[in-house]
Amino acid sequence: MADVQRYDAVVIGSGPGGYACGIRLGQLGLKALVVERENTGGVCLNVGCIPSKALIHAAKMYDKVKHLSEIGISAGTPAVDVATMQKWKEKVVSKLTNGVKQLLGANKATLLKGEATVLSPRELEVKQADGQTVRVETKNLVIATGSRPIQIPGFTFDGKLIIDSTHALALPEIPKQLVVIGGGYIGMELGTVYAKLGSKVTVVEALPQILTGNDPDCVRVVANKLKTWGVEVMLNAKAKSWEKKGDRAVVTVTTASGDVQLDADRVLVTVGRRPNTDGSGLDKLGLKMTKGFIETDAQLRTNVPGVYAIGDCATGMMLAHKATKEAEVCAEAIAGRKSAMDVRTIPAVVFTDPEIASAGLTEEQAKTAGRKTKSGKFPFAVLGRSLSVNDTDGFVKVVSDAETEELLGVHVVGGNASDIISEAALAIEMGAFLHDLSLTVHPHPTLPEALMEASKVALGEAIHVVNR
Ligand code: NAI
Repeated sequence: MADVQRYDAVVIGSGPGGYACGIRLGQLGLKALVVERENTGGVCLNVGCIPSKALIHAAKMYDKVKHLSEIGISAGTPAVDVATMQKWKEKVVSKLTNGVKQLLGANKATLLKGEATVLSPRELEVKQADGQTVRVETKNLVIATGSRPIQIPGFTFDGKLIIDSTHALALPEIPKQLVVIGGGYIGMELGTVYAKLGSKVTVVEALPQILTGNDPDCVRVVANKLKTWGVEVMLNAKAKSWEKKGDRAVVTVTTASGDVQLDADRVLVTVGRRPNTDGSGLDKLGLKMTKGFIETDAQLRTNVPGVYAIGDCATGMMLAHKATKEAEVCAEAIAGRKSAMDVRTIPAVVFTDPEIASAGLTEEQAKTAGRKTKSGKFPFAVLGRSLSVNDTDGFVKVVSDAETEELLGVHVVGGNASDIISEAALAIEMGAFLHDLSLTVHPHPTLPEALMEASKVALGEAIHVVNR
């Protein structure tokens, strides 16, 4: 065994939490080590956000080409070359993961490939691929071990008939019949990809609505659009069991009107993710957890002195940008700065078609919190830019306090909702009022004009729709 390596901080995991933490620690002059057992960049870069967005883009382009004749362009009949699509997706991923390695190096953080086992809050062992073990001592330990897909009883992932999101991002062919169990973020994003590429998709969702937690008006727009690609959504339906019939799966689904059987060549199970906190020796630390998620304070400290947790393995939303924000705060806290997680909103985007993006409270959440609300909604169907890019589904909805008119939430459903929501997040962070948005001159013709217009609607001062 080699000599002991000593660091100011060791980060386990190199996802958008771990690598950002390593970079920030390096910037702050601390001697930092990031340990990664798989590929640099974690789920987000390798088998999550980035490859899924690449496939979502490819499917969107394929679908768009089919409709180009509507605007006077004939492009023939498009065809999908799955192998080339996959190669392009891999190129996008490797560009980003190589970038992460370079950034860590440029900020003088060390990246060590291997499986970390925590021995105590100050000691670790890292087993490398060649069997060598590196012994590490650290003043601070940051757990950024991420999460993995949940398996439901009876539906063990085999990577062939029963697949998780990682398998679904690398399928060598377009399934003819795809059953998606779980109508949440991943199920709806990937289900839409394959529906556009030609699969007959059936979504099985246990709750009365898909994409629970999002503004129901926004969800309704997405649910309606799904019919365009023939997606069937079964609500209040629970996947019970499955049986192999030749090279196919027959899934039994329990519904209010009895059991239903669905035939599929692939079954994608997306019923949530669970934190990676049950391995790596973490159980020895005596960390306080809720349902496996590590509890932290506003500086990402756990109950064990010198041990921090960030990203999916810690409590809170399982979103890459939440992990990155926590990483920065955590690194700064380790460096002795007074930084703290003090955000008013962590925006979220579902990359369905159309996209749903939200920041702050929904009307329902505001009412539950005891606030009286004033809302305004502006449809893309009457916005110049939306009409001129032939993409008119959806709207922007603003939710404000009825009396003070302080902005409480913004909910967008539309083709480019993801690009509109950051202005809303900034407004909420800055404690903006409806007039701040309505009085800000927005360039014309652009999609964010809809945010300004929705604020005017709430104020009864709309120019481009009739005030009620
Ligand atoms: P999810 O929590 O979003 O949705 C899971 C769905 O499965 C729920 O609607 C649940 O009711 C349903 N379900 C559970 N058991 C079921 C059963 N036996 N039969 C039928 N339905 C069942 O989980 P998902 O989609 O796996 O995503 C995991 C996490 O990843 C999310 O929390 C999300 O934050 C994150 N993510 C974020 C993305 C983004 O920001 N665009 C994209 C993808 C994932």
